[in-house]
Amino acid sequence: MRIDVLTLFPEMFTGPLEYSIIKRARQAGVVEVHLVNFRDWARDKHHTVDDTPFGGGPGMVLKPEPVFDAVEALRSSQETAGPLIYLSPKGEPLTQRLVKDLAALPALTLLCGRYEGLDQRVVDHLVDREVSVGDYVLSGGEPAAIVVLDAVVRLLPGALGDDQSAEDESFNDGLLEYPQYTRPAEFRGWNVPEVLLSGHHEAIRRWRKEMSVTVTRKNRPDLLRGQNDIIAGGHS
Ligand code: ADE
Repeated sequence: MRIDVLTLFPEMFTGPLEYSIIKRARQAGVVEVHLVNFRDWARDKHHTVDDTPFGGGPGMVLKPEPVFDAVEALRSSQETAGPLIYLSPKGEPLTQRLVKDLAALPALTLLCGRYEGLDQRVVDHLVDREVSVGDYVLSGGEPAAIVVLDAVVRLLPGALGDDQSAEDESFNDGLLEYPQYTRPAEFRGWNVPEVLLSGHHEAIRRWRKEMSVTVTRKNRPDLLRGQNDIIAGGHS
């Protein structure tokens, strides 16, 4: 998969790209990440990328020209230019469903905004999807793009090691993941649940499903709406 990131701060990505799963996936050729500073596409000698908002008000707005030019140059140089995703608190929520859909694509371009926003003509005429990573405001799209990158790359075939799996985890069946334990079986007087030591696979499966429902009910009751069939499955 090829992921292009359009940002005014490419250095913000160097750390995340050089550790753990993203680093390994890049080294294995599973993903290619290209960072593009769209300031390089600014037309004046000061490399201006922002201007004051029409209608007044505080802050600065990113101008359309450098973003259009950068995206159009990318699209004309690539055979498989993927959709352009703009990271913004106004976007549709990022979910594991959307992450899976993005991970199935051959290419993806992430656009990071800054300042008070982006000229709406970019959103209306260039962006394919506007995506938010949560109901809070970040100072720019970069941390959100890193979230998307990480969540997508770990699903690419060959990105996770043999001992890791994306199969059995939170959100896969619409529930949060059950608790995990490892040795020692007793730590400071706290014991690992007996059933996990029993070797009884069916009992372990049932316990895990019940715990998934319990933690989901406690932390994310909204996820349980319309999930009665899954909950019933846990007790069968
Ligand atoms: N940019 C600023 N806040 C954001 C958010 N919550 N999600 C995605 N991009 C953002």
